[in-house]
Amino acid sequence: MGTIKLNNADVLGAVSAADIESLQHAAEAAVEKLEKGTGEGNDFLGWLHLPSTTSDALLDEVEAAAAQLRNSCEYVVAIGIGGSYLGAKAVIEALSDSFAAYKPSKGAKVLFAGQNIGEDYLYDLQELLQGKNFGIVVISKSGTTTEPAIAFRFLKEMLEKQVGKAEAAKRIIAITDASKGALRKLAEEEGYKTFVIPDNVGGRFSVLTPVGLVPIAVAGFDVKALVEGARAMEAATANADADNVVMAYAKTRNALYRAGKKIEILVNFHPKLHYVSEWWKQLYGESEGKDHKGIFPASVDDTTDLHSMGQWIQDGERTIFETVITVEKQARTLVIPSDEANLDCLNYIAGKRVDEVNKMAELGTRLAHVDGGVPTMVITMPEISEKCLGELIYFFEKACGVSGYILEVNPFNQPGVEAYKKNMFALLNKPGYEAESAAIQAKLAK
Ligand code: PA5
Repeated sequence: MGTIKLNNADVLGAVSAADIESLQHAAEAAVEKLEKGTGEGNDFLGWLHLPSTTSDALLDEVEAAAAQLRNSCEYVVAIGIGGSYLGAKAVIEALSDSFAAYKPSKGAKVLFAGQNIGEDYLYDLQELLQGKNFGIVVISKSGTTTEPAIAFRFLKEMLEKQVGKAEAAKRIIAITDASKGALRKLAEEEGYKTFVIPDNVGGRFSVLTPVGLVPIAVAGFDVKALVEGARAMEAATANADADNVVMAYAKTRNALYRAGKKIEILVNFHPKLHYVSEWWKQLYGESEGKDHKGIFPASVDDTTDLHSMGQWIQDGERTIFETVITVEKQARTLVIPSDEANLDCLNYIAGKRVDEVNKMAELGTRLAHVDGGVPTMVITMPEISEKCLGELIYFFEKACGVSGYILEVNPFNQPGVEAYKKNMFALLNKPGYEAESAAIQAKLAK
């Protein structure tokens, strides 16, 4: 039984219950396409039953490899981009102490690289790692992506200089395709520990494979509980019945899109969920934004962003809807103290938990936005834990597949991502891109 709840009552000013229910047939057809593998992109459906088919043996192997790095290194750098980065980053940030970077830790601290080509970023990282005991988890499904390849070249060389080639090889884990790509070849030649990204799982659906599980385990979190949560959601959404939360979310957002609500803002009131939104944006952006269609996925971290984006959301163009992730129980308790002088005039909330104030800010915001013409859905999760995050991840993944098919796009490809790469390779004179290089230079010379 999943514990994630969805409430879509506050969209009813913008679309009717009948508008949403009119998509029931399309949602059922979408579920059938996923289950039978008869839709577009059906060679990338490995994520659908991944939680229930992930073996304990694989989870044990992930934990053992991760423990080795965690216990022997001060820092472990997870190198990857897009789907090979965001899932691990989202779960680690959500579960970590907000100031973990500045506090001593029991095991290795996980850092990220290869998710940008920032020269200063790489320089600063190398400066931090100079003379430190560090390891690397390099992740690339294709094994050829430029950003992680650059970062890995620098950090591999640095590690080999610091500890020698043989010891460096023991501190590098490579996660890539079973047989293809430069990273697979390199890993085999150098003798790294490797994990396979299944062929039928695309990058943005891969957080519950070793792509996400290894860095999450290195950071000290319970990957078995994460998978257990995903299994619970897989079971809870297996049937196309009335309380199927995945179908309800997919139908509601498509009904809103058809009613002109082209932008979905994922809202949280918990700073630790910032990267969950970043992961969600990639999942929905790359899955649905094609054929000149698709809801634009945006996000805000409230109450922070109420002081920057709040005005627009309350009063700007009415093409948006919000999906608020609310967290019932906080991990910590903090009560606002009373102050005799009360110069800050805050005694009216003295004795209340900080979370109670946050919850009232959340409710007040939701009511104001609904009054202002922003249809709002609410996703409730009991707490931020491995199990609940596992549920949430699977919820969003399955809803994305259903929603993409309702929208009549192939949710499992990303042809548009290649356009920038082609231009970049042409501009950098990559071998094999001679014609593109000539064409782009001619275009720039005009
Ligand atoms: O979702 C996707 O497929 C992409 O975002 C990829 O994950 C991203 O481009 C990284 O690719 P790779 O893992 O092949 O390096």
